[in-house]
Amino acid sequence: MCGIVGYIGNRQAYPVILKGLKRLEYRGYDSAGIALLQEGQLAVHKKQGKVADLEELVAGKRVQANIGIGHTRWATHGAPNDINAHPHLSGDGKLAIVHNGIIENYASIKKDLIQKGHRFLGDTDSEVIAHFIEEIKRQNQCALEEAIRLVLKRIVGAYVIVILDCDNPGELIAVRKGSPLVIGIGKGEHFLASDASPIIEYTQEVVYVNDYEIAIVRPDELVLKNSSNEVQTPYIQKLDMELASIEKDGYDYFMQKEIFEQPQRIFDSLRGRLNAQKGRLTLGGLHQYMDAFIQANRMVILACGTSWHAGLVAEYMIEKMARIPVEVEYASEFRYRDPIINKGDVILAISQSGETADTLVAIEEAKEKGAVVFGVCNVVGASIPRVSHAGAYTHAGPEIGVASTKAFTAQLTVLVQIAIKVGYEKGTLSPSQYFNLLHALEQIPDKVAEVLKKDQEIKEIARKYEGYKDFLFLGRGYNFPVALEGALKLKEVSYIHAEGYPAAEMKHGPIALVEESLPVVFIATRDAHYSKIVSNIQEVKARNGKVIAVVNEGDDTLRELVDDVIAVPETEEALAPLVNVIPLQLLAYHIGVLKNLDVDKPRNLAKSVTVE
Ligand code: G6P
Repeated sequence: MCGIVGYIGNRQAYPVILKGLKRLEYRGYDSAGIALLQEGQLAVHKKQGKVADLEELVAGKRVQANIGIGHTRWATHGAPNDINAHPHLSGDGKLAIVHNGIIENYASIKKDLIQKGHRFLGDTDSEVIAHFIEEIKRQNQCALEEAIRLVLKRIVGAYVIVILDCDNPGELIAVRKGSPLVIGIGKGEHFLASDASPIIEYTQEVVYVNDYEIAIVRPDELVLKNSSNEVQTPYIQKLDMELASIEKDGYDYFMQKEIFEQPQRIFDSLRGRLNAQKGRLTLGGLHQYMDAFIQANRMVILACGTSWHAGLVAEYMIEKMARIPVEVEYASEFRYRDPIINKGDVILAISQSGETADTLVAIEEAKEKGAVVFGVCNVVGASIPRVSHAGAYTHAGPEIGVASTKAFTAQLTVLVQIAIKVGYEKGTLSPSQYFNLLHALEQIPDKVAEVLKKDQEIKEIARKYEGYKDFLFLGRGYNFPVALEGALKLKEVSYIHAEGYPAAEMKHGPIALVEESLPVVFIATRDAHYSKIVSNIQEVKARNGKVIAVVNEGDDTLRELVDDVIAVPETEEALAPLVNVIPLQLLAYHIGVLKNLDVDKPRNLAKSVTVE
């Protein structure tokens, strides 16, 4: 949610920042801007639209500067227009800031500043920060750093703020609370960004700034201070990311690339953990907390969006294999209802980005109430893994398409390993069930690759249905969350209204919608619910509904009954979501592309939602 880039050093700042903003565009893309310090003066360029629009605006202008900040926005306060785009300036125009997050008490501060004579140009909470720092600096006759420190004591909310000040031309100051900030360490230069992707081609050495820290960033020096103004030794980490992983690599869209990467990413998520031949399954983070899992009276899974769907699948897996009662909660709802946490509860937080504000605050709350928190995240070093007691990374690699695909299947891969391992250790899975599952899991990457070969076939189906206005997705058991995920993918990237439902619930409402103009996607692979779902399909067909069914190979009964089939390989019931979701991702992708939409950056969405 909003991407931030900063540069200070010997290079030209503009190209570094511009390229960085393009890399961070998945975080928000309704407007973008840049501030450069040129011979002691700030030059600010801002534009509604994507980073490419900013680039066009700046083309031909003088951009020579060795220090600058940039921002790509996902609007919270104020319309996405040129004025509300960041950077924002102080009243005297000497100080520029970029901000990611929300200042919750901005309205009262703004009112106060207006009374003191400040004039605001736009409607954002962020502009208030620039004026507030200016005001506090003047009132207290203090240095910029001190003014920032005083301001932080007064603002409530989540933020990364990077400040560029004409009076302090040799440094950038950055502060963080609740939103991510990475600083890349170069030779005589530093890079600041919301994640490591803008930094990776310049340096592998990074520092993840912690909440409440202030970073004073000079070309040759990085000074980190905590909230008590004590200097901290920066913990420098090596980036484990390849440049190719954040480029399209010949694919038309990141979403397409990420769908096709799934066999490899699922394999990566199993690598070093699973050895089916030897009957071994090792999850480092789980080992230490195995007793807590085995003895858990209850597990609560907290997540948002697609990760929440992965959580629903995990509920079926964990209840079945480890016989632990599981509740799956939207993190945003859980947090605000004074949640009951009992001794012996284990919290499982699932998040691709590891930065989702709702999930982060929910687990902080649960942790405070004494729960063990286990994080399942993709982005290494992100906030959720850092505040969790233990966890397991999903190893999906950077996911850039806003609609999650490979991160979902990598999450499922980790979650099923947790369920199998805990079930086996607890004795609720027999050795033969355990071994069968391990062998079946090992074959999943190949089965996913098989489904991907159906790409053209699915594209043809997409062509047939791209003009429809509503879709229903239905599944039972493990395939119910798959139905939800299929519906979410379609609405995210094609803007077609789509609902996911448990197939049996259809009779209690959605069946009223069924008619020729409503395609119903059934996930109808062979499992314990198969005969029941065939009946549900009959019910739709009897009412002239159009049915697309995801079935197992060789299922001629359904092939004859429905309008279109996508056949996928059969696997263990608990692993079927990993295979069955693939055709739904491809269906959504192709419909989005056929409708000429930017499937990587769907309107109004952002990949990393760092505001509550
Ligand atoms: C946003 C993204 C979704 C994602 C959700 C949760 O809405 O667009 O793709 O599933 O946030 O994000 P997380 O990073 O916590 O998995």
